[in-house]
Amino acid sequence: MKYYRFLLPAFLLLSIIGHAQIKLNSFSPGARWPDDKGVHINAHGGGILYNNGVYYWFGEHKVAGNAGNRAMVGVHCYSSKDLYNWKDEGISLSVSPDPASDIAKGCILERPKVIYNKKTKKYVMWFHLELLGKGYSVARAGVAVSDKVTGPYQFVKSYRPNPGQMPFYPELTPQSDQLNCLSPANKSDGFFCRDLPGGQMARDMTVFVDDDGKAYHVFSSEENYTLDLAELTPDYTGHTGKFIRIYIGHQTEAPALFKRNGIYYMIGSGCTGWAPNAARWFTAKSIWGPWTYHGNPCQGQDSQITYGGQSTHVLPVAGKKDAFIFIADKWTPKDAIDGRYLWLPISFKGDDMEINWIDKWSLDTFEK
Ligand code: GAL
Repeated sequence: MKYYRFLLPAFLLLSIIGHAQIKLNSFSPGARWPDDKGVHINAHGGGILYNNGVYYWFGEHKVAGNAGNRAMVGVHCYSSKDLYNWKDEGISLSVSPDPASDIAKGCILERPKVIYNKKTKKYVMWFHLELLGKGYSVARAGVAVSDKVTGPYQFVKSYRPNPGQMPFYPELTPQSDQLNCLSPANKSDGFFCRDLPGGQMARDMTVFVDDDGKAYHVFSSEENYTLDLAELTPDYTGHTGKFIRIYIGHQTEAPALFKRNGIYYMIGSGCTGWAPNAARWFTAKSIWGPWTYHGNPCQGQDSQITYGGQSTHVLPVAGKKDAFIFIADKWTPKDAIDGRYLWLPISFKGDDMEINWIDKWSLDTFEK
Protein backbone atom coordinates (compact mmCIF):
# COMPACT_ATOMS: atom_id res chain seq x y z
CA MET A 1 0.00 0.00 0.00
CA LYS A 2 2.75 2.45 0.97
CA TYR A 3 4.26 2.24 -2.56
CA TYR A 4 1.01 3.45 -4.08
CA ARG A 5 1.40 6.78 -2.26
CA PHE A 6 4.35 7.57 -4.58
CA LEU A 7 2.80 6.31 -7.76
CA LEU A 8 0.53 9.28 -8.57
CA PRO A 9 3.13 12.04 -7.92
CA ALA A 10 5.75 10.07 -9.86
CA PHE A 11 3.34 9.62 -12.76
CA LEU A 12 2.48 13.36 -12.74
CA LEU A 13 6.16 14.34 -12.67
CA LEU A 14 7.00 12.01 -15.54
CA SER A 15 4.14 13.29 -17.67
CA ILE A 16 5.21 16.92 -17.04
CA ILE A 17 8.80 16.09 -18.06
CA GLY A 18 7.48 14.23 -21.09
CA HIS A 19 5.54 17.22 -22.33
CA ALA A 20 7.90 20.02 -21.37
CA GLN A 21 9.83 21.06 -24.45
CA ILE A 22 13.54 21.46 -24.23
CA LYS A 23 14.45 24.95 -25.36
CA LEU A 24 16.87 24.79 -28.27
CA ASN A 25 19.78 27.21 -28.56
CA SER A 26 21.67 25.80 -31.54
CA PHE A 27 21.19 24.30 -35.02
CA SER A 28 21.98 20.62 -35.62
CA PRO A 29 21.88 20.18 -39.40
CA GLY A 30 20.33 16.88 -40.45
CA ALA A 31 18.96 15.97 -37.01
CA ARG A 32 15.26 15.63 -36.26
CA TRP A 33 14.01 19.11 -35.35
CA PRO A 34 11.19 19.15 -32.78
CA ASP A 35 8.54 21.90 -32.88
CA ASP A 36 6.80 23.28 -29.76
CA LYS A 37 4.83 20.05 -29.47
CA GLY A 38 7.91 17.84 -29.80
CA VAL A 39 6.97 16.79 -33.35
CA HIS A 40 9.61 16.88 -36.14
CA ILE A 41 9.02 20.06 -38.18
CA ASN A 42 7.04 19.30 -41.33
CA ALA A 43 7.86 22.12 -43.76
CA HIS A 44 9.91 20.74 -46.64
CA GLY A 45 11.11 22.67 -49.71
CA GLY A 46 10.33 25.69 -47.59
CA GLY A 47 10.99 29.37 -47.33
CA ILE A 48 11.00 31.87 -44.50
CA LEU A 49 9.30 35.25 -44.26
CA TYR A 50 10.40 37.74 -41.61
CA ASN A 51 7.39 39.78 -40.57
CA ASN A 52 7.01 42.17 -37.60
CA GLY A 53 9.82 40.63 -35.58
CA VAL A 54 8.73 37.05 -36.20
CA TYR A 55 10.04 34.46 -38.67
CA TYR A 56 7.43 32.36 -40.47
CA TRP A 57 8.57 29.11 -42.05
CA PHE A 58 6.30 27.74 -44.80
CA GLY A 59 6.91 24.35 -46.39
CA GLU A 60 5.43 21.22 -47.87
CA HIS A 61 3.56 19.15 -45.29
CA LYS A 62 4.62 15.58 -46.09
CA VAL A 63 3.01 12.38 -44.88
CA ALA A 64 4.67 9.03 -44.12
CA GLY A 65 5.81 6.74 -46.92
CA ASN A 66 6.12 7.35 -50.61
CA ALA A 67 2.67 9.01 -50.84
CA GLY A 68 4.13 11.85 -48.83
CA ASN A 69 5.82 13.18 -51.94
CA ARG A 70 2.39 14.28 -53.11
CA ALA A 71 0.33 17.00 -51.39
CA MET A 72 -2.08 15.14 -49.12
CA VAL A 73 -2.55 18.02 -46.66
CA GLY A 74 -1.09 21.33 -47.88
CA VAL A 75 1.42 23.94 -46.81
CA HIS A 76 2.48 23.91 -43.15
CA CYS A 77 3.45 27.08 -41.27
CA TYR A 78 5.61 27.53 -38.15
CA SER A 79 6.67 30.71 -36.35
CA SER A 80 9.77 31.59 -34.34
CA LYS A 81 11.45 34.59 -32.78
CA ASP A 82 14.89 33.01 -32.34
CA LEU A 83 15.11 30.62 -35.35
CA TYR A 84 15.83 27.62 -33.07
CA ASN A 85 12.41 27.10 -31.47
CA TRP A 86 9.40 26.83 -33.80
CA LYS A 87 5.72 26.98 -32.91
CA ASP A 88 3.30 24.96 -35.01
CA GLU A 89 0.89 27.44 -36.66
CA GLY A 90 -0.98 24.72 -38.54
CA ILE A 91 -1.82 24.37 -42.23
CA SER A 92 -1.82 27.72 -44.02
CA LEU A 93 -2.95 26.44 -47.44
CA SER A 94 -5.05 23.28 -47.56
CA VAL A 95 -5.38 21.04 -50.58
CA SER A 96 -8.94 20.64 -51.85
CA PRO A 97 -11.11 17.53 -51.42
CA ASP A 98 -12.53 18.28 -54.92
CA PRO A 99 -10.57 16.19 -57.47
CA ALA A 100 -11.35 18.81 -60.14
CA SER A 101 -9.57 21.56 -58.20
CA ASP A 102 -6.11 22.67 -59.38
CA ILE A 103 -4.89 21.95 -55.85
CA ALA A 104 -6.77 18.66 -55.40
CA LYS A 105 -5.60 16.36 -52.61
CA GLY A 106 -2.84 14.15 -54.07
CA CYS A 107 -1.55 16.77 -56.51
CA ILE A 108 2.09 17.85 -56.39
CA LEU A 109 2.53 21.16 -54.61
CA GLU A 110 6.17 22.01 -53.98
CA ARG A 111 8.54 24.70 -52.72
CA PRO A 112 5.95 27.18 -51.34
CA LYS A 113 7.33 30.68 -50.64
CA VAL A 114 5.47 33.61 -49.09
CA ILE A 115 6.10 37.33 -49.63
CA TYR A 116 4.31 40.34 -48.17
CA ASN A 117 2.94 43.12 -50.36
CA LYS A 118 3.12 46.43 -48.48
CA LYS A 119 0.71 48.17 -50.89
CA THR A 120 -2.11 45.61 -50.87
CA LYS A 121 -1.28 44.44 -47.31
CA LYS A 122 -1.70 40.86 -48.52
CA TYR A 123 0.51 37.86 -47.99
CA VAL A 124 1.16 36.13 -51.31
CA MET A 125 2.20 32.48 -51.55
CA TRP A 126 3.76 31.07 -54.74
CA PHE A 127 4.45 27.39 -55.35
CA HIS A 128 5.21 24.84 -58.05
CA LEU A 129 2.04 22.98 -58.95
CA GLU A 130 1.36 19.75 -60.83
CA LEU A 131 -2.26 18.76 -61.36
CA LEU A 132 -3.59 15.54 -59.83
CA GLY A 133 -2.53 12.41 -61.71
CA LYS A 134 -0.41 14.18 -64.33
CA GLY A 135 3.04 13.45 -62.90
CA TYR A 136 5.37 16.41 -63.46
CA SER A 137 4.08 17.23 -66.95
CA VAL A 138 1.94 20.29 -66.24
CA ALA A 139 4.75 22.44 -64.72
CA ARG A 140 2.73 25.40 -63.47
CA ALA A 141 3.19 28.22 -61.02
CA GLY A 142 0.41 28.49 -58.43
CA VAL A 143 -0.53 31.46 -56.28
CA ALA A 144 -2.63 31.92 -53.13
CA VAL A 145 -3.27 34.98 -50.94
CA SER A 146 -4.16 35.76 -47.35
CA ASP A 147 -4.79 38.83 -45.14
CA LYS A 148 -3.10 37.05 -42.25
CA VAL A 149 0.45 35.77 -42.41
CA THR A 150 -0.33 32.31 -41.07
CA GLY A 151 -3.38 31.95 -43.35
CA PRO A 152 -5.73 30.49 -44.30
CA TYR A 153 -4.49 31.27 -47.83
CA GLN A 154 -7.06 31.27 -50.63
CA PHE A 155 -5.93 29.65 -53.86
CA VAL A 156 -6.13 32.16 -56.76
CA LYS A 157 -4.88 30.48 -59.96
CA SER A 158 -2.20 28.33 -61.57
CA TYR A 159 -0.64 28.75 -65.00
CA ARG A 160 2.52 28.72 -67.10
CA PRO A 161 4.09 32.18 -67.04
CA ASN A 162 4.76 34.59 -69.85
CA PRO A 163 2.87 33.14 -72.86
CA GLY A 164 3.85 34.78 -76.14
CA GLN A 165 6.70 36.74 -74.51
CA MET A 166 10.32 36.73 -75.60
CA PRO A 167 13.00 37.26 -72.93
CA PHE A 168 14.15 40.72 -72.02
CA TYR A 169 17.81 41.57 -72.65
CA PRO A 170 19.23 44.63 -70.92
CA GLU A 171 21.83 44.72 -73.66
CA LEU A 172 22.20 42.75 -76.84
CA THR A 173 24.51 39.79 -76.18
CA PRO A 174 25.53 36.86 -78.40
CA GLN A 175 23.01 34.86 -76.37
CA SER A 176 20.11 37.11 -77.37
CA ASP A 177 21.07 36.79 -81.02
CA GLN A 178 20.85 33.02 -80.73
CA LEU A 179 17.24 32.69 -79.61
CA ASN A 180 15.55 32.30 -82.91
CA CYS A 181 12.36 30.31 -82.85
CA LEU A 182 12.41 29.86 -86.63
CA SER A 183 15.43 27.62 -86.11
CA PRO A 184 16.20 26.94 -82.40
CA ALA A 185 19.96 26.53 -81.87
CA ASN A 186 19.81 23.91 -79.08
CA LYS A 187 17.51 21.78 -76.92
CA SER A 188 16.69 24.54 -74.42
CA ASP A 189 15.81 27.03 -77.14
CA GLY A 190 13.66 24.32 -78.72
CA PHE A 191 11.67 23.82 -75.50
CA PHE A 192 11.39 27.58 -75.06
CA CYS A 193 9.98 27.98 -78.57
CA ARG A 194 7.65 24.98 -78.20
CA ASP A 195 6.17 26.54 -75.04
CA LEU A 196 6.07 30.12 -76.30
CA PRO A 197 2.35 30.16 -77.21
CA GLY A 198 1.07 28.58 -73.95
CA GLY A 199 3.59 29.93 -71.43
CA GLN A 200 6.88 28.64 -70.09
CA MET A 201 7.17 25.60 -67.82
CA ALA A 202 7.58 26.53 -64.14
CA ARG A 203 8.88 23.89 -61.72
CA ASP A 204 11.41 24.38 -58.84
CA MET A 205 11.09 27.98 -57.72
CA THR A 206 11.58 30.84 -55.34
CA VAL A 207 10.33 34.42 -55.03
CA PHE A 208 12.36 37.45 -54.06
CA VAL A 209 11.37 41.00 -53.07
CA ASP A 210 13.94 43.68 -53.87
CA ASP A 211 14.60 46.84 -51.82
CA ASP A 212 12.40 48.87 -54.18
CA GLY A 213 9.42 46.59 -53.49
CA LYS A 214 9.51 44.84 -56.86
CA ALA A 215 9.10 41.08 -56.67
CA TYR A 216 10.54 38.35 -58.88
CA HIS A 217 9.77 34.70 -59.50
CA VAL A 218 12.71 32.42 -60.33
CA PHE A 219 11.83 29.01 -61.75
CA SER A 220 13.22 25.98 -63.59
CA SER A 221 11.84 26.08 -67.10
CA GLU A 222 12.33 24.44 -70.52
CA GLU A 223 12.11 20.84 -69.15
CA ASN A 224 14.39 22.05 -66.30
CA TYR A 225 17.15 23.02 -68.74
CA THR A 226 17.08 26.75 -67.96
CA LEU A 227 16.20 29.04 -65.07
CA ASP A 228 13.85 31.94 -65.75
CA LEU A 229 13.78 35.08 -63.63
CA ALA A 230 10.51 36.93 -64.14
CA GLU A 231 9.03 40.15 -62.79
CA LEU A 232 5.78 39.93 -60.83
CA THR A 233 2.97 42.46 -61.11
CA PRO A 234 2.78 45.23 -58.46
CA ASP A 235 0.27 43.16 -56.43
CA TYR A 236 2.63 40.13 -56.69
CA THR A 237 -0.13 37.80 -57.95
CA GLY A 238 0.81 37.68 -61.64
CA HIS A 239 3.66 38.02 -64.15
CA THR A 240 4.30 41.24 -66.09
CA GLY A 241 5.81 39.41 -69.10
CA LYS A 242 9.31 40.76 -68.46
CA PHE A 243 11.83 37.97 -67.82
CA ILE A 244 15.32 36.66 -68.54
CA ARG A 245 16.79 33.19 -69.04
CA ILE A 246 19.73 32.28 -66.78
CA TYR A 247 22.44 29.68 -67.42
CA ILE A 248 20.72 28.23 -70.46
CA GLY A 249 20.87 24.48 -70.96
CA HIS A 250 22.59 23.52 -67.70
CA GLN A 251 19.64 22.15 -65.71
CA THR A 252 19.55 24.31 -62.60
CA GLU A 253 16.98 23.56 -59.91
CA ALA A 254 16.17 24.59 -56.35
CA PRO A 255 16.91 28.33 -56.72
CA ALA A 256 17.42 30.55 -53.67
CA LEU A 257 18.11 34.27 -54.11
CA PHE A 258 19.46 36.93 -51.77
CA LYS A 259 21.10 40.34 -51.91
CA ARG A 260 24.24 41.49 -50.10
CA ASN A 261 26.07 44.80 -50.50
CA GLY A 262 24.07 45.57 -53.64
CA ILE A 263 25.01 42.25 -55.31
CA TYR A 264 22.43 39.59 -56.14
CA TYR A 265 23.40 36.05 -55.21
CA MET A 266 21.70 32.87 -56.29
CA ILE A 267 22.32 29.32 -55.10
CA GLY A 268 20.84 26.37 -56.96
CA SER A 269 21.36 22.66 -57.56
CA GLY A 270 21.75 20.32 -60.48
CA CYS A 271 18.89 18.12 -61.62
CA THR A 272 18.90 14.58 -60.17
CA GLY A 273 15.42 14.24 -58.65
CA TRP A 274 15.44 13.53 -54.90
CA ALA A 275 19.11 12.44 -55.01
CA PRO A 276 21.61 15.11 -53.95
CA ASN A 277 24.11 16.69 -56.32
CA ALA A 278 26.60 19.59 -56.21
CA ALA A 279 25.24 23.06 -55.50
CA ARG A 280 26.10 26.00 -57.77
CA TRP A 281 26.15 29.74 -57.22
CA PHE A 282 25.79 32.83 -59.35
CA THR A 283 26.04 36.58 -58.88
CA ALA A 284 24.77 39.61 -60.76
CA LYS A 285 25.09 43.36 -60.32
CA SER A 286 21.62 43.89 -61.76
CA ILE A 287 18.75 41.49 -61.21
CA TRP A 288 18.41 41.45 -65.01
CA GLY A 289 21.91 40.08 -65.31
CA PRO A 290 24.25 39.15 -66.72
CA TRP A 291 24.42 36.40 -64.10
CA THR A 292 27.87 34.91 -63.61
CA TYR A 293 28.29 31.24 -62.74
CA HIS A 294 30.85 30.54 -59.98
CA GLY A 295 30.71 26.76 -59.46
CA ASN A 296 30.10 24.97 -56.16
CA PRO A 297 29.98 27.08 -52.98
CA CYS A 298 30.27 24.03 -50.68
CA GLN A 299 33.64 22.99 -49.26
CA GLY A 300 35.06 19.86 -47.65
CA GLN A 301 33.71 16.36 -47.26
CA ASP A 302 30.46 15.64 -49.13
CA SER A 303 30.56 19.05 -50.78
CA GLN A 304 29.93 17.32 -54.14
CA ILE A 305 26.51 16.27 -52.86
CA THR A 306 25.73 19.40 -50.83
CA TYR A 307 26.16 17.28 -47.65
CA GLY A 308 23.17 15.21 -48.81
CA GLY A 309 20.86 18.20 -49.31
CA GLN A 310 19.34 20.43 -51.97
CA SER A 311 18.94 24.19 -51.61
CA THR A 312 15.55 25.72 -50.89
CA HIS A 313 16.14 29.17 -49.35
CA VAL A 314 18.74 31.62 -48.08
CA LEU A 315 17.64 33.48 -44.97
CA PRO A 316 19.08 36.88 -44.05
CA VAL A 317 19.18 37.01 -40.24
CA ALA A 318 17.39 40.15 -39.06
CA GLY A 319 19.52 42.74 -37.30
CA LYS A 320 22.85 41.09 -38.09
CA LYS A 321 25.27 42.22 -40.76
CA ASP A 322 26.47 39.65 -43.26
CA ALA A 323 24.42 36.92 -41.62
CA PHE A 324 22.89 34.59 -44.19
CA ILE A 325 21.76 31.02 -43.59
CA PHE A 326 21.85 28.45 -46.39
CA ILE A 327 18.79 26.22 -46.04
CA ALA A 328 18.58 22.85 -47.78
CA ASP A 329 16.37 19.78 -47.69
CA LYS A 330 17.77 16.35 -47.10
CA TRP A 331 15.00 14.41 -48.85
CA THR A 332 13.90 10.95 -47.76
CA PRO A 333 11.52 10.06 -50.62
CA LYS A 334 10.72 6.55 -49.28
CA ASP A 335 9.39 8.11 -46.08
CA ALA A 336 8.85 11.72 -47.09
CA ILE A 337 7.79 12.97 -43.65
CA ASP A 338 11.22 12.10 -42.23
CA GLY A 339 13.05 14.55 -44.53
CA ARG A 340 15.63 16.63 -42.68
CA TYR A 341 16.76 20.23 -42.86
CA LEU A 342 20.31 21.44 -43.31
CA TRP A 343 20.85 24.98 -42.05
CA LEU A 344 24.42 26.20 -42.52
CA PRO A 345 26.00 29.65 -42.18
CA ILE A 346 27.34 31.25 -45.35
CA SER A 347 30.79 32.82 -45.06
CA PHE A 348 32.05 35.59 -47.30
CA LYS A 349 35.52 36.60 -48.47
CA GLY A 350 34.99 39.89 -50.21
CA ASP A 351 32.14 39.17 -52.61
CA ASP A 352 32.89 35.43 -52.74
CA MET A 353 30.82 33.02 -50.72
CA GLU A 354 31.51 29.66 -49.17
CA ILE A 355 29.49 27.04 -47.30
CA ASN A 356 31.08 24.61 -44.84
CA TRP A 357 29.57 21.75 -42.91
CA ILE A 358 29.15 22.24 -39.14
CA ASP A 359 27.61 19.57 -36.87
CA LYS A 360 26.23 22.10 -34.43
CA TRP A 361 26.27 25.89 -34.44
CA SER A 362 24.46 28.98 -33.22
CA LEU A 363 23.85 32.52 -34.46
CA ASP A 364 26.93 33.65 -32.46
CA THR A 365 28.93 32.28 -35.43
CA PHE A 366 28.03 35.44 -37.32
CA GLU A 367 29.48 37.78 -34.74
CA LYS A 368 33.02 36.45 -34.98
C1 GAL B 1 13.81 17.62 -57.30
C2 GAL B 1 13.11 18.91 -56.98
C3 GAL B 1 12.10 18.64 -55.92
C4 GAL B 1 11.14 17.58 -56.44
C5 GAL B 1 11.92 16.35 -56.87
C6 GAL B 1 11.03 15.28 -57.49
O1 GAL B 1 14.80 17.78 -58.27
O2 GAL B 1 14.04 19.87 -56.56
O3 GAL B 1 11.44 19.83 -55.56
O4 GAL B 1 10.44 18.10 -57.54
O5 GAL B 1 12.90 16.70 -57.82
O6 GAL B 1 11.78 14.23 -58.01
